[in-house]
Amino acid sequence: MTPIIRIQDIAAHLGETVTLQGWLYARTDKGKLQFLQVRDGTGVVQCVVFKKDVPEEVFEAAARLTQESSLEVTGTVRADPRAPGTPGGFELGVSDVRPVQVATEYPITPKEHGVEFLMDWRHLWIRSSRQWAILRIRATIMRAIREWLDGNGFLEMSTPIITPSAAEGTSTLFALDYFGENAYLAQSGQLYNEANIGAFGKVYCFGPTFRAEKSKTRRHLTEFWMVEPEIAYCDLDQLLVIEENFVSHIVQTVLRERAAELKALGRDTSALEKMIPPFPRITYDDAVERLRKLAAETDDPEQKELLKIEWGDDFGSPHETALTKQFEKPVFIVGYPTVVKAFYMEPWPGRPEVCKSADLLAPEGYGEIIGGSERISDHDTLLQRIHDHKLPVENYKWYLDLRKYGTVPHSGFGLGVERTVAWICGTEHIRETNPFPRMLQRSYP
Ligand code: 4AD
Ligand code: MG
Repeated sequence: MTPIIRIQDIAAHLGETVTLQGWLYARTDKGKLQFLQVRDGTGVVQCVVFKKDVPEEVFEAAARLTQESSLEVTGTVRADPRAPGTPGGFELGVSDVRPVQVATEYPITPKEHGVEFLMDWRHLWIRSSRQWAILRIRATIMRAIREWLDGNGFLEMSTPIITPSAAEGTSTLFALDYFGENAYLAQSGQLYNEANIGAFGKVYCFGPTFRAEKSKTRRHLTEFWMVEPEIAYCDLDQLLVIEENFVSHIVQTVLRERAAELKALGRDTSALEKMIPPFPRITYDDAVERLRKLAAETDDPEQKELLKIEWGDDFGSPHETALTKQFEKPVFIVGYPTVVKAFYMEPWPGRPEVCKSADLLAPEGYGEIIGGSERISDHDTLLQRIHDHKLPVENYKWYLDLRKYGTVPHSGFGLGVERTVAWICGTEHIRETNPFPRMLQRSYP
């Protein structure tokens, strides 16, 4: 028996005879030569079947393999700088091919397909090289997230998905019937983490969150993954330092460990290499000024209209894109108007119309990847806000209690995994960053 190896480890087996277990990604036939592009989940390697090197029946069995047929292939690893594939530069000189199943006609062919078609076949689309690269990078991002937080004194806490109350506004709640009571799918684990910091100081939750987003955009899913760190004895300035170090670690890890995937995506990595702290910080007030200036300077009437903004408005994606074009690194927008943000944010000292919030916008128009803030630590201020937002006080009793039993200044943030993946991979639409995305009008497959 030859050893079974995975393609990502192929360089370590140069000159050896090995077996790969995988699927036929593509093939080219040239008379006595068959070039089989075999993928095994960790990469793609060219396997060369030469008629005179294999028994007749092996050559014929290989010839019958269709796209996405499953197979085991044995051969000798050779270096060839021209060999295609991922990581590339190696090929297999085949001595044996054992078909596992000859696939029926595969729906996804090298020709162009529409996105809705591909989404209907998402269960197979994830095998395509681009999707594969994005989802491998996603997994690395998720590991880098845990690695940095665990290494910096944060404790992972599981927060509930079934919740009685809203954290991020009542307009995007998914309601469910909880044995006759109203309950909702969690929009965020933050409120529970504000309890968890009272027990553990620095915590994070990491899991799926749910928002009934009723509009179709390239940045919104209805189910997305969010990591939410929360820190006791931390103000907004201290929070931003944590955020920039955290984001930088994520980017550097991907650059180091997923170079082949970034290359397969054609991502400009020189832009990513610049993601070293500090990241620029501008105030919301300054951002509004910059947008007005841009609107005044542009000759394009459509752009002028899109960039229009009044102090107090939330930013739309044209605003965010225009702002981030002014910076090479992600930019913090600090101190949003209280009216556009969630109920729990600490007022700016001396300016109650502004809150101690900060969003982090990714460069190149990928939009907000982090929303964060200092939280209200005073009981009566928080109670007033709950009333102002017309939230049912009885559901927030436990949350108010946290301000009665040793309240402290505290802050936290949420980073959206899919938006971060979209930015790092340079993908236009967020739907490709989750293996099985959930969106308005899409819950299949
Ligand atoms: O800004 P958001 O709504 O903040 C919160 O949920 C806070 N409770 C976080 C906290 O302070 N603990 O969401 C945080 C991030 C956004 O910056 C964005 O990256 C992502 O979550 N996000 C979405 N991603 C995909 N689809 C959606 N519908 C998203 N909504 C938010
Ligand atoms: Mg936000």
